[in-house]
Amino acid sequence: MTAITSSARPLTPARPWLLRPPGVYRPQDDTWLLASALRASGMPGGARVLDLCTGTGALALTAAAAGAGSVTAVDISRRALAAVWANARLRRLPVRPVRGGLAEAARGGPFDVVLANPPYVPCPVPATGAARAWDAGPDGRIVLSPVCSEAPSLVAPGGYLLLVQSAVSGVGESLDQLRAAGMTAAVVASRFIPFGPVMRERAEFLAAAGLITAGQRHEELVVIRADRP
Ligand SMILES: C[S@@+](CC[C@H](N)C(=O)[O-])C[C@H]1O[C@@H](n2cnc3c(N)ncnc32)[C@H](O)[C@@H]1O
Repeated sequence: MTAITSSARPLTPARPWLLRPPGVYRPQDDTWLLASALRASGMPGGARVLDLCTGTGALALTAAAAGAGSVTAVDISRRALAAVWANARLRRLPVRPVRGGLAEAARGGPFDVVLANPPYVPCPVPATGAARAWDAGPDGRIVLSPVCSEAPSLVAPGGYLLLVQSAVSGVGESLDQLRAAGMTAAVVASRFIPFGPVMRERAEFLAAAGLITAGQRHEELVVIRADRP
């Protein structure tokens, strides 16, 4: 597996225009790092793809445009599902929006390729409103941990999961949980970025929780690939 590590150059030649209703996550560095890893992953033509936590559907559309046979796009947000439906229709791409979480996604599986950019920002209080797109409990793992532990319920034998997260929310834990679930797992891409507004505002909490060092204002985004034997 080839690791992609970058710092300054753009991650994709083109970041597509996407319909994004208020409250739906704006695709950003984590989205594009995962899209880039997907393109480098050797996705087989005709693959059955799941985009879990789809938001605008940026990753679902990337998979469909790259030759997926079918794409299921899952999110808990009704507005996100409206966005992915419209964005797929505008491009005439085969994306099926499904409302729900891990359980609803698993019901439609298994999949050859699973993409996930879940909420992963550590947060001292329960997430509400638009923040449900990024806030993920005190250690940032409220969605990450179930995705890792239950990956085999989503990924078909011979298939793989590509998952993006911040190093602040425990890359070691994700690798351990994936391996404990019977997957092979490794970091295949990473990128250092400056803190955005949410991380800057939360820096004191993160430092007090021991998740960053005092004065740290950069985070590392990481893509993990986990294959199901
Ligand atoms: C970080 S955004 C990623 C959006 C998109 N995949 C991207 O990369 O631009 C996370 C998304 O997960 C959704 N979400 C949060 N908790 C979820 C859950 N338990 N199950 C499914 N989707 C969830 C949010 O509504 C949000 O759209």
